[in-house]
Amino acid sequence: DPGLHALATRKGRYFGIAMDNPALSDQTYLSYAKNTKEFGVVTVGNSLKWDATEPSRNSFSYDRADAIVKFAEANGQAVRGHTLVWHSQLPSWVSNGNFNAAELTRIIESHVTNVMTKFKGRLFHWDVVNEVVDDGGNKLRDSVFSRTLGEEFIAIAFRAARKADPACKLYINDYNIDGLDAKSTFTYDLVKRLLAKGVPIDGVGVQAHLISGSVPGSIQENWARFASLGVDVAITELDIRIPLPVTDAKLQQQKKDYNAVTKACASIPRCVGITIWDFPDHYSWIPSVFPQEGAALPWDSNYKKKPAYYGIQEAL
Ligand code: XIL
Repeated sequence: DPGLHALATRKGRYFGIAMDNPALSDQTYLSYAKNTKEFGVVTVGNSLKWDATEPSRNSFSYDRADAIVKFAEANGQAVRGHTLVWHSQLPSWVSNGNFNAAELTRIIESHVTNVMTKFKGRLFHWDVVNEVVDDGGNKLRDSVFSRTLGEEFIAIAFRAARKADPACKLYINDYNIDGLDAKSTFTYDLVKRLLAKGVPIDGVGVQAHLISGSVPGSIQENWARFASLGVDVAITELDIRIPLPVTDAKLQQQKKDYNAVTKACASIPRCVGITIWDFPDHYSWIPSVFPQEGAALPWDSNYKKKPAYYGIQEAL
């Protein structure tokens, strides 16, 4: 096998993984993760989230994130930053702070500026905001940010991000924006509106936490619709979970699903790359959050390539 990143690169795209700090002490894991033929990009899985980087106000901690960034840099892998403003993994000093609009604006600006300046020039993408759209698809998600500032919190975050590291591509990232539906349409309209106001959004990040056998038929059309706004599209957190137990037939279905996602990206000129949310099944977050589901990644727990791997390879 030539490797997924090597294949993606031939068409100007990348293939990458998310990884988290526990993996840094697993030599077997690392020997696979550093293979730049497979993986050209590393996303920091948890350690750049607000609770990790600014656990209390104006007290910043970067050691855990830096360890992953340094691992990627040592291998010559590019790094995606994830994520600056998110309602989850948000320290309670922010969520319970009862700040007024001016104060919360300063807090967002300070956080974005500090974190991005620390890693300036070392990250090629940042997920500036994460999961800002409500699941119903007709409003912004309720959070301390939307409650206090409305839609303006997104503009505040992106403007501070552009200022802090002008060369970095800035993304709005979300889940369940795969097919054409209310949530993806709200997201499309939101990005369009923000771009019209001059908010510096460079790309839409599609998390793509999908369910095998239920991948929407309209992913290509929907992701191309995002790209038609004049922004890049990145598949940022791909995994395709299987209802357990695993069978050969389910692995074949999962191969089809990975193939469909990869084909959709490959057919959209502005779809710049695909990141899977870790690569061997025993490191996946899925079993801890979705009981009775798992085996969501292209490598099994013994680092053996699954049919899903070949589903990706065949579409690149
Ligand atoms: C997940 C991590 O993988 C877990 O380790 C953590 O406990 C929870 O968050 N969408 C996102 C990611 O944007 O940050 C999430 O990562 C998965 C869902």
